[in-house]
Amino acid sequence: MTAVKAGAVPFAGAGMFEAFHGQAGVDGMLDRSVSDPRIAGIFAATDMVRLRRTLKEQFCYLLNGPCAYTGRSMRDAHADIGLQPADMGALVEHLQAAMDEEGVPFHTQNRFLAKLAPMRRDVVTR
Ligand code: HEM
Repeated sequence: MTAVKAGAVPFAGAGMFEAFHGQAGVDGMLDRSVSDPRIAGIFAATDMVRLRRTLKEQFCYLLNGPCAYTGRSMRDAHADIGLQPADMGALVEHLQAAMDEEGVPFHTQNRFLAKLAPMRRDVVTR
């Protein structure tokens, strides 16, 4: 059930979580997103305390870390936001910058982005 809500089945083994040093870049990604004029407005009405918590849970869970995801499904969470392809592009840019900053190896970044990519169809609705 968690895998359905979290949008994907976690990686196997401990390697991915370790490669992220237990810090999946959520704060860096969100800090950049809320100060990016292209997408900041999308987060204006959002409870950022909750979003930071549930996103960290999701990323930790997908990396096969010791976390359960307690948030909504990707479809439900994004249903009313009307996200466009360019919004997704901007968020991915910020995630990449955050992972760079944390020293996550390039191939590990790409494996993680590939895990998130199929969620696009539930997230981007316009
Ligand atoms: C694969 C890409 C994405 C993933 C994995 C993802 C993940 C999540 C998660 C885990 C939540 C929290 C759900 C909850 O707490 O119940 C959430 C909510 C949210 N996401 Fe995303 N997201 C993605 C793409 C995006 C993009 C591109 C944007 C905007 C640029 C965005 C904006 C938001 C906002 C504003 C909320 C809060 C909605 C609310 O307040 O009800 N997300 N997302």
